Amino acid sequence: MIQLRNIYKSLGGRPVLRDVTLEVRRGESLVIVGSSGTGKSVTLQHMVGLLHPDAGDVLIEGECINRATGRAVERIREKFGVLFQSGALINWMNVFDNVALPLYEKTSLGDEEIAARVREALALVDLQGTEARMPAELSGGMRKRAGLARAIIMRPLIVLYDEPTSGLDPVMSRRIDRLIRDVQRRFNTTAVVVTHDLQSAFTVGDRIAMLAEGRIVEVGTPAEFRASTCPAVQEFISAQFSEAARAEEAVAWTSPPRETQAPAGSDRTGSDQEDRK
Ligand SMILES: Nc1ncnc2c1ncn2[C@@H]1O[C@H](COP(=O)(O)OP(=O)(O)O)[C@@H](O)[C@H]1O
Ligand SMILES: [Mg+2]
Repeated sequence: MIQLRNIYKSLGGRPVLRDVTLEVRRGESLVIVGSSGTGKSVTLQHMVGLLHPDAGDVLIEGECINRATGRAVERIREKFGVLFQSGALINWMNVFDNVALPLYEKTSLGDEEIAARVREALALVDLQGTEARMPAELSGGMRKRAGLARAIIMRPLIVLYDEPTSGLDPVMSRRIDRLIRDVQRRFNTTAVVVTHDLQSAFTVGDRIAMLAEGRIVEVGTPAEFRASTCPAVQEFISAQFSEAARAEEAVAWTSPPRETQAPAGSDRTGSDQEDRK
């Protein structure tokens, strides 16, 4: 479905990807983990042809996206839905217009059909009735879900998720994990999920690949990944567990109910309670 073959890429004069080879199979969900700054987002950008490799090829269903031009690139890109880190909603458009936008731009569907598709997508992500709201009126979790509704509105073959749980509390993170699985089953999509959230990786991944120092150092099922003897993998897993333990400790020391607390760096603006209903 997606093949990265010996990808090299330098950015800002520094090598980021140094011989990345990876295959994503049809219908699977493949999670790419790695510390921040290792090139996970750069890898995703290669898959949709937003970045071109210095060397190597990216094949999408056998077609080389980095050698394609013009209309051919567009045609390959139409296979993808992408959920960017921020949700990437357009601030001055309400939820309905944000989600409907690809349908208006790329299809000749009538208004009624578009409204039906938007309703269906919003129901799938549990955002019924929010059509008229503006992005600023949504919490972080709701924005991600609206972004997900837009990413799947064209019923893409492949959905790419860049840090779908970042900035969300654990409850909302697990809910997003379930949604990723629901979308994969419902539409038979292939999913590539980039995350530094190990719990999310184990929940969502049919296979997990680890990117370190510009290479894929391990790839396997969650069980194989956990059992990996690769030092980078073991280091990553134990660092995550100690981070989780520290977070637990921090929560125990702060008084208000943990459900209402936003994690540091959260970008949410709306009420979290709304996410829980
Ligand atoms: N457009 C760019 N120009 C220069 N450097 C970039 C660009 N995009 C990413 N980088 C650098 O490439 C490295 C990998 O970035 P990224 O893929 O975003 O990491 P992450 O694994 O956290 O997603 C980082 O050092 C980042 O600063
Ligand atoms: Mg990133």
